[in-house]
Amino acid sequence: MTFYVTTPIYYVNAQPHLGHAYTSIAADVLARHHRRRGDDTFFLTGTDEHGEPVADAARAQGLEPRAWADLNAAKFKALLPAIGVEPDFFIRTTDPEHKRRVQQVLQRVHDNGHVYKGIYEGWYCPRCADFKTEAEIGPGNRCPIHEIELTREREENWFFRLSAFQERLERLFAEQPDFVRPTRARNEAQAFIAQGLQDISLSRARLQWGVEVPWDPGHVFYVWFDALLNYYTALGYARPGEDLTARYWPAQLHLVGKEILKFHTIYWPAMLWAADLEIPEHVFVHGFLQGSDGRKMSKSLGNGLDPFEVLERFGVDALRFYLFRDVTFGADGNVGMEAVAVRYDSELANEYGNLVSRTLAMIARYRDGALPEAGHDATLDPELASLAGEVAAAFDAVDLSGALELIWQRVRRLNRYVEERKPWELARDADRSGELDTALVTLHHGLDVVTAELAPYMPATCALVRSALEAVPIEPIPPLFPKRDR
Ligand code: MSP
Repeated sequence: MTFYVTTPIYYVNAQPHLGHAYTSIAADVLARHHRRRGDDTFFLTGTDEHGEPVADAARAQGLEPRAWADLNAAKFKALLPAIGVEPDFFIRTTDPEHKRRVQQVLQRVHDNGHVYKGIYEGWYCPRCADFKTEAEIGPGNRCPIHEIELTREREENWFFRLSAFQERLERLFAEQPDFVRPTRARNEAQAFIAQGLQDISLSRARLQWGVEVPWDPGHVFYVWFDALLNYYTALGYARPGEDLTARYWPAQLHLVGKEILKFHTIYWPAMLWAADLEIPEHVFVHGFLQGSDGRKMSKSLGNGLDPFEVLERFGVDALRFYLFRDVTFGADGNVGMEAVAVRYDSELANEYGNLVSRTLAMIARYRDGALPEAGHDATLDPELASLAGEVAAAFDAVDLSGALELIWQRVRRLNRYVEERKPWELARDADRSGELDTALVTLHHGLDVVTAELAPYMPATCALVRSALEAVPIEPIPPLFPKRDR
C-alpha cells in the first residue's frame, strides 16, 4: 500500500504558530504510523508564497516579495525539527520546477476547453485571496474569517468553468461518502455544491507576484490554483532525477483546516478532472485550536498557546501528545498552558512515565536486569493483542485522538496490573518467584506493545523507552517527564 499525506502549504505572510504546527504534527503522526505498518509513505508540506497577501506583507516590510518569502519560508522550515516533524519534501511554490508544472497542467485545462475570458466583479477578501459568494459575506460586509471589510473588485480575468462540474461533484459525494471527512465537513461541502456552482476566476491581471499564464503572459494564475497544484507538482521533482508521480499520485489524504474546505473539496477535484488527472482519495478537515476561553487565539487577548513556550517548558513530545489528547481531532477545541501542565503531570508523568520507571526498576532490582525466561500473563493477552488492529482502524478513520485513547486504556490497564500483582510483595516470598517472573515479563511485553503504538505521537520518548527495554542488562532510566518549575 502507498500512503501519500499532505498538509496545506502555509502562507509566508505570517509567522509560524500553533495552528500550523498542529496540522504538520498530525500529518507527521500519520506518516510515522503508516511507515511502521510497512506502507510506502510520502509526506509533503511546504509554503505558499505567491499572491496578494504575500506581496502586500512584503511591501509593508519594504521588501521584495521574493526576499520576504525566503525569510519566512526559512522560519516555517526551521519549525519542523523543533516539533519533531520529518517530511519527505518541503515544497515552495516559488520553486522553478513547481511553476513549470503548474503551467503545464493549467495549459492542459485550457486546451481541454475549460477556460474562457470574462469580466469578474465581486466582493473580495485580500487575506483569503478569495471572492465571496453572497452566502459567504459576514455582517457589515466583512470577511467572516478575517473580519476585515471586503473590497469590490472588477477585472478582466480568465475563468475556470467550475459550473460544468456540478453533476460530477454531486456524484462524487454521493458515491464516495468518505471522500470528505468528518461528516460535518462533507455536509458543508455538499451544501455549497447544492447552491449551484459558479465559474471562478483562474487568473489575476493586476498582480505580478505569481505564476505567469502561459497563453496570456500579462496575467498570473490566481494563487489558489498555483497552491493546490503543489500536491501534484512536488512529486515530479522531490527526488532529483526521479519522478514519483506514478508511484504516489493520487494522494491518499489531504489534511486541511476547516477554513479552506471549499478549495480542497470542490475546486481541487474539478481542476484535476479538467486536467485529466486523478483526484485524491480523501480530504480530512480538522477543526480550529482556540484559546483557553474558547475564543480565537490572539496576542491582544493573551489567550493563545505559544508552541515555543510549550516546547521549552514541557518538551516536544509533550506538545505532540497534548494536541491529540486534549482536542478531538476533527472538532474545534480549546488549548492552554494550564491544560498542558495538567496532562503532563497526570498522564505523561504519573501514568506512562511511571509505568516505564517502575517496569525497568523492578526488572533491574529483582532480576539484576535480566528479563526472566517465562511466559506472560494470558489475562492481559486479549487487550494487548487487539491494540494494533484497533489503532490501525482508528488511523484509517483519521481519528488521531481516538487512537491515542485506545493506547491510553492499555497504559492504564498495565498500571492497574502492577497494583494487582504487587511485584514488591512477590519479591519478598521465594515460593512466588515464578509469579514474579510472569509479572515482570508481562509488564515488559505490555510496555513494548504500548510503546510501539505510541511512537508516532512521541517519537523521541518512545525511542528511549525502546532502547531501555532492549538493553542488556535492563537498567533504570532518569524520569521521562521530570517535574518542571512553574
Ligand atoms: N496557503 C493556504 C493553504 C493552501 S493549501 C493548497 C493557507 N495557508 S495558512 O498559512 O493560512 O494555513 C492554514 C492552515 O493552517 C489551516 O488550514 C490549518 O491547517 C492550519 N491552521 C492555522 N490556524 C489554525 C488554528 N487556529 N487551528 C488549527 N489549525 C490552524 O490557508
